Amino acid sequence: MTLPSNSHAFLIGAATAAHQVEGGNYNSDWYLWEKAGKTKDLAGIAVDHYHRYEEDFNLAQSLQHNVHRLSIEWSRVEPKEGLFDEQEFTHYRNVLLALQKRNIKVVLTLHHFTDPIWFAEKGAWLNSQAPEIFKEFTEQVVKHLGDLVDYYITFNEPNVKILLGYGTDHTPPGLNDMKKVGPAFANIFKAHANAYHTIHQYNDKSMVSIAHHMRVFAPARRFNPIDVALAHYIDKFWNEQILDSMINGVIKLKVPFFIDYEEKVANLKNTLDFIGLNYYTRDFVQFDPNSAQKLKMIPPAEIFKNSPEKISEYGWEIYPEGFYQVIMKASHYQLPIMITENGIADSTDSKREKFIRDHFREMKRAMKDGANVIGYLHWSLMDNFEWLDGFTPRFGLIEIDYKTLERKIRPSARILNASLLE
Ligand code: FCB
Repeated sequence: MTLPSNSHAFLIGAATAAHQVEGGNYNSDWYLWEKAGKTKDLAGIAVDHYHRYEEDFNLAQSLQHNVHRLSIEWSRVEPKEGLFDEQEFTHYRNVLLALQKRNIKVVLTLHHFTDPIWFAEKGAWLNSQAPEIFKEFTEQVVKHLGDLVDYYITFNEPNVKILLGYGTDHTPPGLNDMKKVGPAFANIFKAHANAYHTIHQYNDKSMVSIAHHMRVFAPARRFNPIDVALAHYIDKFWNEQILDSMINGVIKLKVPFFIDYEEKVANLKNTLDFIGLNYYTRDFVQFDPNSAQKLKMIPPAEIFKNSPEKISEYGWEIYPEGFYQVIMKASHYQLPIMITENGIADSTDSKREKFIRDHFREMKRAMKDGANVIGYLHWSLMDNFEWLDGFTPRFGLIEIDYKTLERKIRPSARILNASLLE
């Protein structure tokens, strides 16, 4: 199901995720991860968006946002298996109504990194029942909230979630076992397919996708054939194979010596109505036979940054040209593209304006070259809990004073509007 992109104005707004902003989420695997001391801070009340969403949406409206991406916290609405909390659904209805009242379109993410504890205890994405369990959750969401949702993102960044949580021990469940990566991916693909069809069974007007994290991978030594080959394979795997699988209906994840998974899934074919694209940075890839000890993620390569002068506070290279490259790559699928995340950690707001302008320049260049980009969501509306790194990275268009929770619009936020498209 594909709507013509010119049926509405270009979408400009910002994105958040429940666990990073809401506060009070104590039923998820991330909460346990925090309690186990694996993160810099505890999310706690985060930025108390759960209670302050009206104020936050007033600010978004004052910035002329016409779209907002947020996620529903699965562990809140289904704190125990099969037990859905009506009060929490009422809360989310009020949140979505608050957006509707302000003429702000809704992009709702069903899964943004966190799993309910009961689901984690059942083996999470290695449990063969996971796709069915996720389907039931999706069905409840669509029944309760579907009339208020314009776009769905089933999963945020499956590649980040699975590689870091199953292939390494950085994030929950921290399995650190490359052999688990293929099967965990497969269950996410199947859950996505189930969610896609469930949404369309109840509602044919919304568009459905994933938020796909794309990066540029460049060989560290441009003329070293092994670096060149590794960068090529990693690019294919990370950027293309997930989209290919969802469009062709056959999961094919292949990197020599690293992963080799293939499975045909009956209802997976053409389950993207558009491509949700998250873009932040470029990585350099260098052959390193010892990398398996350092970074189990994608052996045998070391992946690092090498442009210190253009690095953000978070250590990510600022590389706007890469935005053009990943958009053009996504445009080969001939689907509309929505930028579902793009942003920079910048506590002093000294780089954000240029970052936004440069990324819009590259996005416009891609549009001129044929990419059908329908919207841009900045990460993030406000400072928030940045997973492993806690409250230190400041990604917000709106600054949060963590002592008072006072919100203050950063100057750069004011330039993010339709005039950037001219
Ligand atoms: C993305 C995540 C998002 C946020 C940004 C900085 O990978 O989807 O939640 O953490 O990075």
